Amino acid sequence: MRNFLLEEYFADWEFNAAHHMTASDVESMTTSDLLELATPQDRYAFENAWLGYTEPKGALDLREVIANTYADLNADNILCFAGAAEGIYAAMRVLLSPGDHLIVPVPNYQSAESVADDICEVTGIGLNFEAAWRLDLQEVEDSIKSNTKLISINYPHNPDGMIMSKDDLFSLIEICRRNGLILFSDEVFRGVELNDEDRLPQVADIYERGISLGVMSKAYGLPGLRIGWLAAQNRELLDEISRYKHYLSITNSASSERLALIALKARKKILKENQTYLRKNIEELESFFLTYPNLFKWLRPRGGCIAYPKFIGPGGGEKFCRDLLRKKGVFLLPGSVYESPLASTPPNHFRIGYGRKESFQDGLNAIGDFLDEEYSTSI
Ligand SMILES: Cc1ncc(COP(=O)(O)O)c(C=O)c1O
Repeated sequence: MRNFLLEEYFADWEFNAAHHMTASDVESMTTSDLLELATPQDRYAFENAWLGYTEPKGALDLREVIANTYADLNADNILCFAGAAEGIYAAMRVLLSPGDHLIVPVPNYQSAESVADDICEVTGIGLNFEAAWRLDLQEVEDSIKSNTKLISINYPHNPDGMIMSKDDLFSLIEICRRNGLILFSDEVFRGVELNDEDRLPQVADIYERGISLGVMSKAYGLPGLRIGWLAAQNRELLDEISRYKHYLSITNSASSERLALIALKARKKILKENQTYLRKNIEELESFFLTYPNLFKWLRPRGGCIAYPKFIGPGGGEKFCRDLLRKKGVFLLPGSVYESPLASTPPNHFRIGYGRKESFQDGLNAIGDFLDEEYSTSI
Protein backbone atom coordinates (compact mmCIF):
# COMPACT_ATOMS: atom_id res chain seq x y z
CA MET A 1 0.00 0.00 0.00
CA ARG A 2 1.02 3.58 -0.60
CA ASN A 3 2.57 5.24 2.44
CA PHE A 4 -0.05 7.09 4.50
CA LEU A 5 1.24 10.63 3.91
CA LEU A 6 -1.04 12.39 6.39
CA GLU A 7 -0.45 9.99 9.27
CA GLU A 8 3.33 10.06 8.65
CA TYR A 9 3.36 13.84 8.77
CA PHE A 10 1.29 13.68 11.94
CA ALA A 11 3.68 11.17 13.52
CA ASP A 12 6.55 13.61 12.86
CA TRP A 13 4.90 16.74 14.22
CA GLU A 14 1.81 16.14 16.34
CA PHE A 15 3.73 15.88 19.59
CA ASN A 16 6.68 18.10 18.65
CA ALA A 17 5.14 21.34 17.43
CA ALA A 18 4.41 24.16 19.89
CA HIS A 19 0.96 24.84 18.38
CA HIS A 20 -1.10 21.93 17.06
CA MET A 21 -3.45 23.76 14.71
CA THR A 22 -4.59 20.95 12.45
CA ALA A 23 -6.24 18.41 14.76
CA SER A 24 -9.27 16.63 13.33
CA ASP A 25 -10.53 15.59 16.76
CA VAL A 26 -12.20 17.99 19.16
CA GLU A 27 -10.64 18.71 22.55
CA SER A 28 -10.37 15.58 24.65
CA MET A 29 -10.89 15.14 28.39
CA THR A 30 -9.36 13.23 31.28
CA THR A 31 -10.64 9.87 32.45
CA SER A 32 -11.77 11.45 35.70
CA ASP A 33 -13.74 14.18 33.88
CA LEU A 34 -15.48 11.52 31.82
CA LEU A 35 -16.24 9.50 34.94
CA GLU A 36 -18.00 12.56 36.37
CA LEU A 37 -20.63 11.96 33.66
CA ALA A 38 -21.17 8.31 34.64
CA THR A 39 -23.98 6.77 36.64
CA PRO A 40 -22.70 5.10 39.86
CA GLN A 41 -23.23 1.69 38.22
CA ASP A 42 -21.28 2.54 35.07
CA ARG A 43 -18.50 4.05 37.14
CA TYR A 44 -18.35 0.90 39.24
CA ALA A 45 -18.29 -1.20 36.06
CA PHE A 46 -15.31 0.79 34.78
CA GLU A 47 -13.38 0.65 38.04
CA ASN A 48 -13.98 -3.06 38.35
CA ALA A 49 -13.67 -3.94 34.69
CA TRP A 50 -12.23 -7.40 34.19
CA LEU A 51 -9.11 -6.96 32.05
CA GLY A 52 -9.47 -10.16 30.12
CA TYR A 53 -10.44 -10.48 26.46
CA THR A 54 -13.80 -9.00 25.57
CA GLU A 55 -16.38 -10.06 23.00
CA PRO A 56 -14.89 -9.99 19.49
CA LYS A 57 -17.77 -7.94 18.08
CA GLY A 58 -17.67 -5.49 20.99
CA ALA A 59 -19.34 -5.79 24.41
CA LEU A 60 -23.07 -6.37 24.04
CA ASP A 61 -24.11 -3.41 26.23
CA LEU A 62 -21.77 -1.10 24.30
CA ARG A 63 -23.19 -2.27 20.96
CA GLU A 64 -26.70 -1.71 22.32
CA VAL A 65 -25.87 1.86 23.28
CA ILE A 66 -24.27 2.46 19.88
CA ALA A 67 -27.30 0.94 18.15
CA ASN A 68 -29.53 3.38 20.05
CA THR A 69 -27.86 6.23 18.17
CA TYR A 70 -29.42 4.82 14.95
CA ALA A 71 -33.09 4.87 14.01
CA ASP A 72 -33.88 1.18 13.79
CA LEU A 73 -30.77 -0.91 14.42
CA ASN A 74 -29.90 -3.21 17.27
CA ALA A 75 -26.69 -4.66 18.72
CA ASP A 76 -26.41 -7.25 15.93
CA ASN A 77 -26.15 -4.44 13.42
CA ILE A 78 -23.00 -3.08 15.07
CA LEU A 79 -19.43 -4.35 14.81
CA CYS A 80 -16.79 -2.61 16.94
CA PHE A 81 -13.19 -1.92 16.00
CA ALA A 82 -10.06 -0.34 17.42
CA GLY A 83 -10.87 3.11 16.03
CA ALA A 84 -12.33 4.03 12.67
CA ALA A 85 -9.10 3.26 10.83
CA GLU A 86 -9.38 -0.46 11.55
CA GLY A 87 -13.02 -0.42 10.45
CA ILE A 88 -12.09 1.06 7.07
CA TYR A 89 -9.24 -1.40 6.62
CA ALA A 90 -11.25 -4.50 7.51
CA ALA A 91 -14.29 -3.45 5.47
CA MET A 92 -12.30 -2.76 2.31
CA ARG A 93 -10.29 -5.99 2.62
CA VAL A 94 -13.45 -8.05 2.97
CA LEU A 95 -15.78 -6.23 0.57
CA LEU A 96 -13.39 -5.78 -2.34
CA SER A 97 -11.71 -8.32 -4.62
CA PRO A 98 -9.16 -7.79 -7.41
CA GLY A 99 -11.78 -7.62 -10.19
CA ASP A 100 -13.86 -4.94 -8.43
CA HIS A 101 -14.04 -1.18 -8.85
CA LEU A 102 -14.53 1.55 -6.22
CA ILE A 103 -15.38 5.25 -6.54
CA VAL A 104 -14.15 7.79 -4.01
CA PRO A 105 -13.92 11.61 -3.84
CA VAL A 106 -10.42 13.13 -3.84
CA PRO A 107 -8.93 14.66 -1.68
CA ASN A 108 -9.92 12.38 1.19
CA TYR A 109 -8.69 10.71 4.36
CA GLN A 110 -6.16 8.57 2.57
CA SER A 111 -7.18 5.12 3.76
CA ALA A 112 -10.50 5.69 1.94
CA GLU A 113 -8.60 5.27 -1.32
CA SER A 114 -5.29 3.54 -0.54
CA VAL A 115 -6.61 0.31 0.97
CA ALA A 116 -8.94 -0.15 -2.00
CA ASP A 117 -6.23 0.90 -4.45
CA ASP A 118 -4.10 -1.99 -3.16
CA ILE A 119 -6.89 -4.45 -3.98
CA CYS A 120 -8.78 -3.32 -7.06
CA GLU A 121 -9.44 -0.57 -9.57
CA VAL A 122 -10.31 2.81 -8.04
CA THR A 123 -11.71 5.97 -9.63
CA GLY A 124 -11.14 9.25 -7.83
CA ILE A 125 -13.66 12.06 -8.35
CA GLY A 126 -11.82 15.36 -7.96
CA LEU A 127 -13.33 17.96 -5.64
CA ASN A 128 -12.45 21.60 -5.93
CA PHE A 129 -12.70 24.82 -4.01
CA GLU A 130 -14.50 26.76 -6.78
CA ALA A 131 -17.39 24.27 -6.63
CA ALA A 132 -17.39 24.53 -2.81
CA TRP A 133 -15.97 20.97 -2.72
CA ARG A 134 -19.31 19.60 -3.92
CA LEU A 135 -19.31 16.01 -5.18
CA ASP A 136 -20.55 15.98 -8.77
CA LEU A 137 -23.14 13.18 -8.80
CA GLN A 138 -23.26 13.11 -12.60
CA GLU A 139 -19.54 12.39 -12.59
CA VAL A 140 -20.10 9.66 -10.01
CA GLU A 141 -22.81 8.09 -12.16
CA ASP A 142 -20.69 8.36 -15.31
CA SER A 143 -17.85 6.56 -13.50
CA ILE A 144 -19.90 3.49 -12.64
CA LYS A 145 -18.80 0.37 -14.51
CA SER A 146 -20.12 -3.16 -14.66
CA ASN A 147 -17.63 -4.18 -11.95
CA THR A 148 -18.26 -1.23 -9.59
CA LYS A 149 -18.90 -2.59 -6.12
CA LEU A 150 -18.74 0.32 -3.77
CA ILE A 151 -18.87 4.11 -3.43
CA SER A 152 -17.08 5.61 -0.46
CA ILE A 153 -18.06 8.98 1.02
CA ASN A 154 -17.23 10.96 4.16
CA TYR A 155 -19.39 13.81 5.51
CA PRO A 156 -18.56 16.16 7.16
CA HIS A 157 -15.63 15.78 4.82
CA ASN A 158 -11.96 15.54 5.64
CA PRO A 159 -10.26 17.92 4.75
CA ASP A 160 -12.76 20.64 3.72
CA GLY A 161 -15.47 20.23 6.39
CA MET A 162 -18.29 20.39 3.83
CA ILE A 163 -21.51 18.39 4.12
CA MET A 164 -23.44 16.99 1.21
CA SER A 165 -27.02 18.25 0.98
CA LYS A 166 -29.73 15.80 2.04
CA ASP A 167 -31.09 15.87 -1.51
CA ASP A 168 -27.70 14.89 -2.88
CA LEU A 169 -27.39 12.09 -0.35
CA PHE A 170 -30.79 10.68 -1.31
CA SER A 171 -29.89 10.98 -5.01
CA LEU A 172 -26.60 9.20 -4.40
CA ILE A 173 -28.42 6.40 -2.60
CA GLU A 174 -30.77 6.08 -5.57
CA ILE A 175 -27.76 5.79 -7.88
CA CYS A 176 -26.34 3.08 -5.61
CA ARG A 177 -29.68 1.28 -5.41
CA ARG A 178 -30.17 1.28 -9.19
CA ASN A 179 -26.69 -0.16 -9.66
CA GLY A 180 -26.66 -2.57 -6.72
CA LEU A 181 -23.73 -0.78 -5.04
CA ILE A 182 -22.61 -0.65 -1.43
CA LEU A 183 -22.41 2.89 -0.02
CA PHE A 184 -19.66 3.13 2.59
CA SER A 185 -20.24 6.29 4.61
CA ASP A 186 -17.54 7.57 6.95
CA GLU A 187 -19.54 9.58 9.49
CA VAL A 188 -16.80 10.13 12.07
CA PHE A 189 -17.42 13.89 12.28
CA ARG A 190 -21.18 13.60 12.54
CA GLY A 191 -22.63 15.30 15.61
CA VAL A 192 -20.65 18.54 15.57
CA GLU A 193 -22.21 20.28 12.58
CA LEU A 194 -22.11 24.06 12.85
CA ASN A 195 -25.84 24.14 12.01
CA ASP A 196 -27.91 21.24 13.29
CA GLU A 197 -30.10 21.35 10.15
CA ASP A 198 -27.10 20.24 8.09
CA ARG A 199 -26.80 16.93 9.98
CA LEU A 200 -27.27 14.07 7.53
CA PRO A 201 -29.15 10.89 8.31
CA GLN A 202 -26.87 7.93 8.92
CA VAL A 203 -26.55 5.84 5.79
CA ALA A 204 -27.01 2.56 7.68
CA ASP A 205 -30.48 3.81 8.66
CA ILE A 206 -31.65 4.75 5.19
CA TYR A 207 -30.00 2.39 2.75
CA GLU A 208 -30.20 -1.40 2.83
CA ARG A 209 -26.73 -1.70 1.30
CA GLY A 210 -25.31 1.16 3.36
CA ILE A 211 -22.49 0.90 5.88
CA SER A 212 -21.93 3.71 8.39
CA LEU A 213 -18.58 4.21 10.06
CA GLY A 214 -18.69 5.80 13.51
CA VAL A 215 -16.10 6.42 16.20
CA MET A 216 -15.49 8.00 19.60
CA SER A 217 -12.43 9.85 18.25
CA LYS A 218 -13.68 12.94 16.46
CA ALA A 219 -16.99 14.56 17.46
CA TYR A 220 -16.69 13.13 21.00
CA GLY A 221 -12.98 13.98 21.26
CA LEU A 222 -11.99 10.59 22.68
CA PRO A 223 -9.48 9.13 20.17
CA GLY A 224 -7.43 7.57 22.96
CA LEU A 225 -10.24 5.09 23.59
CA ARG A 226 -9.71 3.56 20.13
CA ILE A 227 -13.36 2.54 19.85
CA GLY A 228 -14.98 2.71 16.45
CA TRP A 229 -17.71 0.70 14.72
CA LEU A 230 -19.41 -0.26 11.51
CA ALA A 231 -23.21 -0.20 11.40
CA ALA A 232 -25.28 -1.89 8.71
CA GLN A 233 -28.70 -3.41 8.14
CA ASN A 234 -27.02 -6.38 6.48
CA ARG A 235 -25.82 -8.57 9.38
CA GLU A 236 -24.26 -11.22 7.14
CA LEU A 237 -21.95 -8.56 5.76
CA LEU A 238 -20.90 -7.53 9.27
CA ASP A 239 -20.37 -11.20 10.20
CA GLU A 240 -18.07 -11.58 7.24
CA ILE A 241 -16.09 -8.49 8.23
CA SER A 242 -15.95 -9.69 11.84
CA ARG A 243 -14.09 -12.81 10.71
CA TYR A 244 -11.36 -10.53 9.33
CA LYS A 245 -11.12 -8.73 12.67
CA HIS A 246 -9.76 -11.96 14.20
CA TYR A 247 -6.57 -11.20 12.27
CA LEU A 248 -6.41 -7.62 13.52
CA SER A 249 -7.20 -6.35 17.03
CA ILE A 250 -9.40 -9.44 17.85
CA THR A 251 -11.25 -7.51 20.57
CA ASN A 252 -11.44 -3.99 21.96
CA SER A 253 -9.79 -2.81 25.16
CA ALA A 254 -12.05 -3.72 28.10
CA SER A 255 -11.49 -0.39 29.90
CA SER A 256 -12.15 1.58 26.74
CA GLU A 257 -15.43 -0.20 26.20
CA ARG A 258 -16.63 0.89 29.65
CA LEU A 259 -15.54 4.49 29.03
CA ALA A 260 -17.07 4.61 25.55
CA LEU A 261 -20.36 3.40 27.00
CA ILE A 262 -20.27 6.20 29.58
CA ALA A 263 -19.52 8.81 26.92
CA LEU A 264 -22.27 7.55 24.62
CA LYS A 265 -24.82 7.68 27.42
CA ALA A 266 -23.76 11.31 27.96
CA ARG A 267 -23.55 11.98 24.23
CA LYS A 268 -26.05 14.86 24.08
CA LYS A 269 -24.18 16.83 26.73
CA ILE A 270 -20.72 16.11 25.27
CA LEU A 271 -21.71 16.96 21.71
CA LYS A 272 -23.55 20.12 22.74
CA GLU A 273 -20.57 21.41 24.71
CA ASN A 274 -18.24 20.64 21.82
CA GLN A 275 -20.54 22.34 19.33
CA THR A 276 -20.73 25.43 21.53
CA TYR A 277 -17.03 26.13 21.51
CA LEU A 278 -16.55 25.02 17.89
CA ARG A 279 -19.15 27.63 16.88
CA LYS A 280 -17.18 30.25 18.79
CA ASN A 281 -13.85 29.15 17.30
CA ILE A 282 -15.16 29.15 13.74
CA GLU A 283 -16.21 32.79 14.08
CA GLU A 284 -12.69 33.68 15.19
CA LEU A 285 -11.13 31.63 12.43
CA GLU A 286 -13.34 33.19 9.79
CA SER A 287 -12.65 36.74 10.89
CA PHE A 288 -8.93 35.89 11.04
CA PHE A 289 -8.85 34.77 7.39
CA LEU A 290 -11.03 37.66 6.25
CA THR A 291 -8.44 40.04 7.74
CA TYR A 292 -5.95 38.80 5.13
CA PRO A 293 -7.84 38.81 1.81
CA ASN A 294 -4.58 39.02 -0.16
CA LEU A 295 -3.18 35.93 1.47
CA PHE A 296 -6.10 33.50 1.80
CA LYS A 297 -9.23 32.29 0.10
CA TRP A 298 -11.61 31.06 2.73
CA LEU A 299 -14.68 28.83 2.60
CA ARG A 300 -16.53 28.27 5.85
CA PRO A 301 -16.81 24.55 6.71
CA ARG A 302 -20.17 23.13 7.80
CA GLY A 303 -19.14 20.50 10.31
CA GLY A 304 -16.35 18.62 12.02
CA CYS A 305 -13.46 20.76 13.22
CA ILE A 306 -11.23 21.27 10.19
CA ALA A 307 -11.19 23.62 7.20
CA TYR A 308 -9.21 23.64 3.97
CA PRO A 309 -8.47 27.24 2.93
CA LYS A 310 -6.18 28.29 0.09
CA PHE A 311 -2.99 30.28 0.54
CA ILE A 312 -2.69 32.80 -2.31
CA GLY A 313 0.32 34.76 -1.07
CA PRO A 314 3.84 34.70 -2.54
CA GLY A 315 5.77 31.42 -2.42
CA GLY A 316 2.73 29.14 -2.27
CA GLY A 317 1.00 27.07 0.38
CA GLU A 318 3.70 24.45 0.95
CA LYS A 319 6.31 27.07 1.79
CA PHE A 320 3.81 28.90 4.00
CA CYS A 321 3.12 25.75 6.05
CA ARG A 322 6.74 24.67 6.35
CA ASP A 323 8.08 28.15 7.22
CA LEU A 324 5.32 28.64 9.77
CA LEU A 325 6.21 25.33 11.40
CA ARG A 326 9.94 26.10 11.41
CA LYS A 327 9.72 29.69 12.62
CA LYS A 328 6.74 29.64 14.99
CA GLY A 329 6.17 25.97 15.69
CA VAL A 330 2.64 26.08 14.25
CA PHE A 331 1.62 22.71 12.83
CA LEU A 332 -0.73 22.86 9.81
CA LEU A 333 -1.15 20.18 7.17
CA PRO A 334 0.12 21.23 3.74
CA GLY A 335 -2.01 20.14 0.77
CA SER A 336 0.79 17.83 -0.43
CA VAL A 337 -0.25 15.22 2.15
CA TYR A 338 -3.61 15.01 0.35
CA GLU A 339 -2.09 14.39 -3.08
CA SER A 340 -3.47 11.34 -4.83
CA PRO A 341 -2.51 9.26 -7.86
CA LEU A 342 -6.23 9.03 -8.68
CA ALA A 343 -7.04 12.67 -9.41
CA SER A 344 -5.27 16.00 -9.26
CA THR A 345 -5.70 17.87 -5.99
CA PRO A 346 -5.92 21.67 -5.98
CA PRO A 347 -2.56 23.21 -4.98
CA ASN A 348 -1.85 25.67 -2.15
CA HIS A 349 -4.57 24.49 0.20
CA PHE A 350 -3.78 23.58 3.77
CA ARG A 351 -5.73 22.01 6.59
CA ILE A 352 -6.36 24.01 9.73
CA GLY A 353 -8.23 22.76 12.79
CA TYR A 354 -10.48 24.71 15.13
CA GLY A 355 -11.17 21.89 17.58
CA ARG A 356 -8.92 22.95 20.42
CA LYS A 357 -10.67 24.70 23.28
CA GLU A 358 -7.83 26.24 25.27
CA SER A 359 -4.93 26.62 22.84
CA PHE A 360 -6.78 27.73 19.70
CA GLN A 361 -6.35 31.48 20.25
CA ASP A 362 -2.63 31.14 21.00
CA GLY A 363 -2.16 29.23 17.77
CA LEU A 364 -4.05 31.87 15.78
CA ASN A 365 -1.97 34.63 17.38
CA ALA A 366 1.24 32.83 16.40
CA ILE A 367 0.02 32.58 12.78
CA GLY A 368 -0.91 36.29 12.87
CA ASP A 369 2.57 37.23 14.14
CA PHE A 370 4.16 35.15 11.42
CA LEU A 371 2.07 36.79 8.68
CA ASP A 372 2.88 40.26 9.98
CA GLU A 373 6.60 39.46 10.00
CA GLU A 374 6.91 37.48 6.76
CA TYR A 375 4.22 38.82 4.44
CA SER A 376 3.91 42.45 5.50
CA THR A 377 4.23 43.68 1.91
CA SER A 378 1.30 41.48 0.80
CA ILE A 379 -1.11 42.30 3.61
C1 LIG B 1 -12.42 10.87 7.86
C2 LIG B 1 -11.66 10.01 8.81
N1 LIG B 1 -11.97 8.72 8.93
C3 LIG B 1 -11.32 7.91 9.78
C4 LIG B 1 -10.29 8.38 10.56
C5 LIG B 1 -9.58 7.44 11.51
O1 LIG B 1 -10.04 7.67 12.81
P1 LIG B 1 -9.50 6.89 14.09
O2 LIG B 1 -8.41 7.70 14.64
O3 LIG B 1 -10.63 6.83 15.01
O4 LIG B 1 -9.05 5.55 13.67
C6 LIG B 1 -9.92 9.72 10.47
C7 LIG B 1 -8.82 10.25 11.29
O5 LIG B 1 -8.37 11.35 11.10
C8 LIG B 1 -10.63 10.56 9.58
O6 LIG B 1 -10.35 11.86 9.46
